[in-house]
Amino acid sequence: MWQMKQLIIILGLIIFTILSSHFFKKISYQDKIIKKLDSIVNELRLKCLNCDKKRDVLSSVSRLAKSPIDLFNDSVVIYNRVPKTASTSLMGLAYDLCKQNKFHVLHINTTRNVHVMSLTDQRRFIENVTTWQDKKPALYHGHVAFLNFQRFGYTQRPIYINVIRKPLDRLVSYYYFLRYGDNFRPHAVRKRKGNTMTFDECVKQEEKDCNPENMWLQIPFFCGFHVDCWQPGNEWALVQAKQNLVEHYLLVGVTEELEDFVAVLEAIVPRFFLGATQQFREGKKSHLRKTYNKVDPIPETVQKIRSSNIWRMENEFYEFALKQFHSIRKKTLIEKNGILQDRGQKFFYEKIRPR
Ligand SMILES: *[C@@H]1O[C@H](CO)[C@@H](O)[C@H](O)[C@H]1NC(C)=O
Ligand SMILES: *[C@@H]1O[C@H](CO)[C@@H](O)[C@H](O)[C@H]1NC(C)=O
Ligand SMILES: *[C@@H]1O[C@H](CO)[C@@H](O)[C@H](O)[C@H]1NC(C)=O
Repeated sequence: MWQMKQLIIILGLIIFTILSSHFFKKISYQDKIIKKLDSIVNELRLKCLNCDKKRDVLSSVSRLAKSPIDLFNDSVVIYNRVPKTASTSLMGLAYDLCKQNKFHVLHINTTRNVHVMSLTDQRRFIENVTTWQDKKPALYHGHVAFLNFQRFGYTQRPIYINVIRKPLDRLVSYYYFLRYGDNFRPHAVRKRKGNTMTFDECVKQEEKDCNPENMWLQIPFFCGFHVDCWQPGNEWALVQAKQNLVEHYLLVGVTEELEDFVAVLEAIVPRFFLGATQQFREGKKSHLRKTYNKVDPIPETVQKIRSSNIWRMENEFYEFALKQFHSIRKKTLIEKNGILQDRGQKFFYEKIRPR
């Protein structure tokens, strides 16, 4: 009887040993797998130090996860583009982003491209923009002068943004555009097709198309609808344009620093422009619109244009906007791994009462 008991205990021990050794083998096997996976992950991580792009994608994915994309659904952004300031490149970007960031883009096409709407059209436009819920959030763009919603008694104010360009560069670009068009719509027939006079010759012969008065466009676009805004050289118009820029525009960038403009825009209006900087970099070539046969003017031409009063005023306005843009950029962005990004929150709350 005692022997039987002993036998059972011994048998039990043997079975236990076999089972447990099998069990431990399994554990060490799983351990090995985990270790192996760990090393693979580490290796990938190390490799990824050299693949900025993937990390960018990852970081933008993680940012997207807690983004305000579903907030501010009532927002309206207006970009009243000045012709020949690379605005087409920026709009290409907005059209690329509108689906993923869930907003609408609408082009304002005015008959014969007039920049100043009648007062009744202003009312129709403002009424429509503020009440058209189906299309909100919306980005409206078009070659129209600044329009003050409050004058019609509306309390909702759109977010105004814009981009301006060195006035002479803009004029030269426009001059050649009228003659040769660009790669955006290469087959469109332009107003001065067949005219091969260079800008230098035009200035020398004091022809109409290169008259400094043609530079009077960025000031009136910001000044607005008063008739004096559109009178070349009007000193009040310059003052008003500056005032509107300060009071009504969230951000005004410059053509010469378009990528920085996009980066600031992404940081301050993420509802619309999340992911814009990355997208802009990748799509740079396809978006850039290039005027054909443009020739840089010779120093004498530059000298002559710069001596005009219109150039002086338009340039003063340009410098005014540029100074502010640089200041905003410096305060808003920091460069990390070659990418400009938000500096992050620099304020916090305290002394919150009652408890
Ligand atoms: C905003 O719009 C998005 C997309 O249409 C929707 O999913 C979301 O629920 C809206 N958010 C609010 C707060 O209304
Ligand atoms: C505006 O509309 C007119 C008429 O439909 C069209 O011919 C023109 O090309 C449009 N303008 C732009 C800039 O798309
Ligand atoms: C705004 O204008 C568009 C085009 O004319 C029209 O289809 C739409 O119904 C208007 N929306 C409102 C709210 O009036």
